[in-house]
Amino acid sequence: MDLQAVKRRYNIIGNSEKLNHALSTAIRVANTDLTVLIQGESGVGKEVFSKLIHQLSPRKHNDFIAINCAAIPAGTINSELFGHEKGAFTGATNERRGYFETVNGGTIFLDEVGEMPLDTQAYLLRVLENGEFIRVGSSKVKKTDVRIIAATNVDLKDKVKEKKFREDLYYRLSTVPIYIPPLRERPEDIIILFKKFARDIAEKYNSPTIKLDDEAQILIRNYNWPGNIRELKNVVEKLSVLSDDRLITAEKLIEIVPDIRNRNLPVSFDKNSAEKINDRDLIYKFLFDMKKDISELKTLFYDIVSANDLDLPSIRNIDHDAMKDHLPINDFENKLDEFENKLEVNIPKERSIVVPKTHENENYEVEILDDNLNLEEMEKQMIVKALKKHNGKRRAAAKDLGVSERTLYRKLNEYKIGL
Ligand SMILES: Nc1ncnc2c1ncn2[C@@H]1O[C@H](COP(=O)(O)OP(=O)(O)O)[C@@H](O)[C@H]1O
Ligand SMILES: [Mg+2]
Repeated sequence: MDLQAVKRRYNIIGNSEKLNHALSTAIRVANTDLTVLIQGESGVGKEVFSKLIHQLSPRKHNDFIAINCAAIPAGTINSELFGHEKGAFTGATNERRGYFETVNGGTIFLDEVGEMPLDTQAYLLRVLENGEFIRVGSSKVKKTDVRIIAATNVDLKDKVKEKKFREDLYYRLSTVPIYIPPLRERPEDIIILFKKFARDIAEKYNSPTIKLDDEAQILIRNYNWPGNIRELKNVVEKLSVLSDDRLITAEKLIEIVPDIRNRNLPVSFDKNSAEKINDRDLIYKFLFDMKKDISELKTLFYDIVSANDLDLPSIRNIDHDAMKDHLPINDFENKLDEFENKLEVNIPKERSIVVPKTHENENYEVEILDDNLNLEEMEKQMIVKALKKHNGKRRAAAKDLGVSERTLYRKLNEYKIGL
């Protein structure tokens, strides 16, 4: 079965290169009896992959069982896996078959295999090497045919160094390693996963599907997702239930999921210290405050324009498309001049501007008076200075002044500067 068909059949979402690579390896190895070691952070889909490998294997009609090695007490794990004889230990009133007996012919998924006790590791190695095991309290060797898929969210090599994991077992398990990348390494998958979960939940509760606005999408894509797909699923569920609005804005998202501001920064910066997180929070707060300030300024600006009856050309008359198009550079500068001219607000000279009351507690006036003239005078002086400095060379003077040659030319005419 090809990659896309497997995705469709097993509801695997994502199309990043890294995910596709992991999935192709899983498909290729499924057909064999080889031991597979799936590595990846919590919530990336290790269990999903293990089931898929079993389903695509010749063992698919036999049992599949998932065992979390970290969740079973060290005292009972051997008995759970290999079984025990009656009277093997206090409380063993009956004999019991372990998973290696009951799942014979099937697949055992050993999750968090790095947490397995050392003695159990020795018994597991024996099963992997020749299919042999012994029940606890017995001396009789039994045979089993079980395929092992192991998973870990820690680096087993570190465990080997710490002498908490057998090196020989590590090599035996990692015959075929599969690495499932965390979401932050495949941001292109995040939005499609979000959409898929949003649709699923809408269907489940028979309600309209939630959507993210552009800013919310940026936050979702840049979050570090420590809990990966499991966490993303929870976030979608939370938003679907807690938001009245079906269009989720950045503000709403932060309100419902405050953690979303923890950005996925390059690893070298991401030391996760409280200080760093604070910095990120501050930057975000700053950006949002700035956005608010800008919209308040816009409102104030339009209020001032209308309160003073100022002559402002309608923005709609400006040819935005012409501005955006890839114009030759000269033509672009012409357009820019035109644009600037159109934007000039025609403020009657020697008049004061009234700031509408709604924006301040007290009504205050801004004196303009001769400021315009002063500015013009200053500009004129700057131009003369620049031209002198560059011996009358307009190109150099314009560059120094930070304007185009054309603008300088226009100003020279305007101020009647003859040089
Ligand atoms: N590629 C994927 N597409 C859709 N859902 C996924 C995908 N990978 C994982 N999931 C879902 O994410 C959750 C966590 O997956 P799981 O396999 O339990 O992760 P892990 O075992 O790595 O902690 C599950 O609900 C699973 O169905
Ligand atoms: Mg898991």
